[in-house]
Amino acid sequence: MTIFDCSLDELRRRTSIKWVRWEPDVIPMFVAEMDTRIPAPVAEALHRAVDESDTGYPERPDYQEAFAGFAQWRWGWDADPSRFVTTGDVMQGMRYALEACTKSGDKVVFNPPIYPPFRATIERTGRVGVEVHMLDDRLDLAGIERAFADGARAYLLCSPHNPGGTVHTRDELERVAELANRYDVTVISDEIHAPFNGHEFTPYLSLPGVGKAFVSTSAAKGFNLAALKAGLLGASDASLEALRGLPAYVSESTSHFGVIAHAAAFNHARDWVAQAQKEIDANKALFVDLLKENLPALRYAPSQGTYLAWLDCAPLGLDHPGRHFHEQARVRFNFGSEFGPEYGQFVRVNLATSPDVIREAADRLGRSLASAVS
Ligand SMILES: Cc1ncc(COP(=O)(O)O)c(C=O)c1O
Repeated sequence: MTIFDCSLDELRRRTSIKWVRWEPDVIPMFVAEMDTRIPAPVAEALHRAVDESDTGYPERPDYQEAFAGFAQWRWGWDADPSRFVTTGDVMQGMRYALEACTKSGDKVVFNPPIYPPFRATIERTGRVGVEVHMLDDRLDLAGIERAFADGARAYLLCSPHNPGGTVHTRDELERVAELANRYDVTVISDEIHAPFNGHEFTPYLSLPGVGKAFVSTSAAKGFNLAALKAGLLGASDASLEALRGLPAYVSESTSHFGVIAHAAAFNHARDWVAQAQKEIDANKALFVDLLKENLPALRYAPSQGTYLAWLDCAPLGLDHPGRHFHEQARVRFNFGSEFGPEYGQFVRVNLATSPDVIREAADRLGRSLASAVS
């Protein structure tokens, strides 16, 4: 089984953002979609649902139970399905959790560079964002303590981190939990990228003595199911009442097809995600070699998590690296500035594609720089 073996011709027939947003000669390596076919058990479950016109509302806790089975297999964690409710998607879960544990004007900590909807969610709900930047791609625990001590009420944790791909260690997360308990802060952990990681990933709710906490997660990233909207929001003991007090429309926004697809993925596509992770790791190693060859000024050390590479392009001396690569190399990445205004010299690269596409992109990047100096 090879997960990332789709040709550009096949991929260009798709109509999702990745394949329609930019000009047809541009290799899209931006949005977090994977260049793969969905796992066969997921396709079969969806085909069956279409054939049976099973197009109503979800009712059974199939998604919660499938996640609990997956969590036991992947991380050895006994998640209790009755402590999870379904949501429309992961960012919706983050928002409802934030609204349940804070009020307008409350301070909320987050860690730039960060997946842009984190900042937007804090701002659009009338909360006040407190930035504690990542330090060399790791959590700045001293900075987090200062922000908690300064009156923060909640902390939006991205675990693993997007864009950096950092998998926070158990020690780091235990320290976060200790600080959150001490300063009475609710931790809301986005674990959507976690399915790619095995033992090295620690589910936040699995920590002993965790205080007020929520986790928002789904199968959307791990199995490339963003089109099939569904998410899960879980709570610790101390936040269970808040979870149960959420309005019914939170769960009523979950798509039945989403539940069918995500549950099939968690139940029946475990080998698939393990294989995807192997190929992603190989792609990261390939990207290291290709950068050495084609852009030797850059240094890139792959992180453990996600299929993303967060690349500091400052050594290239370009005004706007992301725009240069789009316009000159015809390769489109996410611009670093989307993840925080200070990160204009970075690009976020999506490596969930075939080695051939990565080779072609690296070749184009190298040639675009050669022509820029000639
Ligand atoms: C960290 C993170 N959270 C949430 C999402 C979006 O998930 P959803 O579409 O379920 O809201 C993404 C998508 O890339 C992500 O990277």
